[in-house]
Amino acid sequence: MRKAILERVSTRTFGKEVLSKKQIDEIKAVIDKYKGIKGPFGNSFEFTFNLNSNNEGKKQKIGFYGMIKNVPAYIGGVSLDTRNSIIDFGYLFEKVILELTTLGYDTCWLGGSFRRSTYRKKLAPNEVIPAICPVGHRADQRSFLDKRIRSAAQSHKRLPFGTLFQYFDEEKELEETTDSRFIDIMHLIQRGPSASNKQPWRFFVAEKHDVIYAYLERTEGYGIALGYDIQALDAGIALAHLEIGLENYDFKFDREEETKGVFFDGLEYIMTYKRAITE
Ligand SMILES: Cc1cc2nc3c(=O)[nH]c(=O)nc-3n(C[C@H](O)[C@H](O)[C@H](O)COP(=O)(O)O)c2cc1C
Repeated sequence: MRKAILERVSTRTFGKEVLSKKQIDEIKAVIDKYKGIKGPFGNSFEFTFNLNSNNEGKKQKIGFYGMIKNVPAYIGGVSLDTRNSIIDFGYLFEKVILELTTLGYDTCWLGGSFRRSTYRKKLAPNEVIPAICPVGHRADQRSFLDKRIRSAAQSHKRLPFGTLFQYFDEEKELEETTDSRFIDIMHLIQRGPSASNKQPWRFFVAEKHDVIYAYLERTEGYGIALGYDIQALDAGIALAHLEIGLENYDFKFDREEETKGVFFDGLEYIMTYKRAITE
């Protein structure tokens, strides 16, 4: 999935073609594959596939406030309204999106630009719809609004490498000259999508690169109007990219939720990855 991480880009302007039966089955098969699979905090989800049409039985066209054009279909899901469940949603939904990217589909994470009630009317009090994602094939040209959203979010840019990745024990940015495989993994995290391109993930690495600590540096006040923890999705996406990178280079790391020595002001601890001890 490394290639998919490098190729994925948010698409808000889709072509007018409808999906064929074969394509629909292909997308549904990816979703089915993720049924019952757990995220880093042990939550799993029943992602759904919906055609975006008024003619499909009772299915309703979803409202995108005019921001996303010609959506042929979309995937989505419901999560418990807790930080860790939303992190798991981000982690697993990103893997689905990357698999769809590998199959040649274009996508766009949507945490805000859709009418939630047209996706699911009845939710339990402790549930949220963290995001949905249109799936289809991009049009030849981006719409004016698509271009404007990309430019406002500076979607083609990422924060400097040294801001996102630092050493744990000393105040030093991770040097781009260390083991190139390790640096490539960090670049895969850096390429990740995030809500409004805020890139709230921060990673700290032990001197020997055998321990990696994942944190969130939250954007103050961001997402309050949405009423759920949207930046937890970003955290889950970053963990997915980290693990895809580690797997790509056959680096064996185990996850560990630590309870001591990892808490700092201004940073929210998420998860530690420790190099597995092999005989
Ligand atoms: C959790 C999450 C929520 C997002 N919500 C929206 C949204 O509501 N509307 C939108 O147009 N883009 C949304 N995006 C897309 C981001 O703006 C986009 O990922 C970012 O600008 C980087 O651009 P890229 O995906 O092309 O690399 C969201 C992305 C993420 C990860």
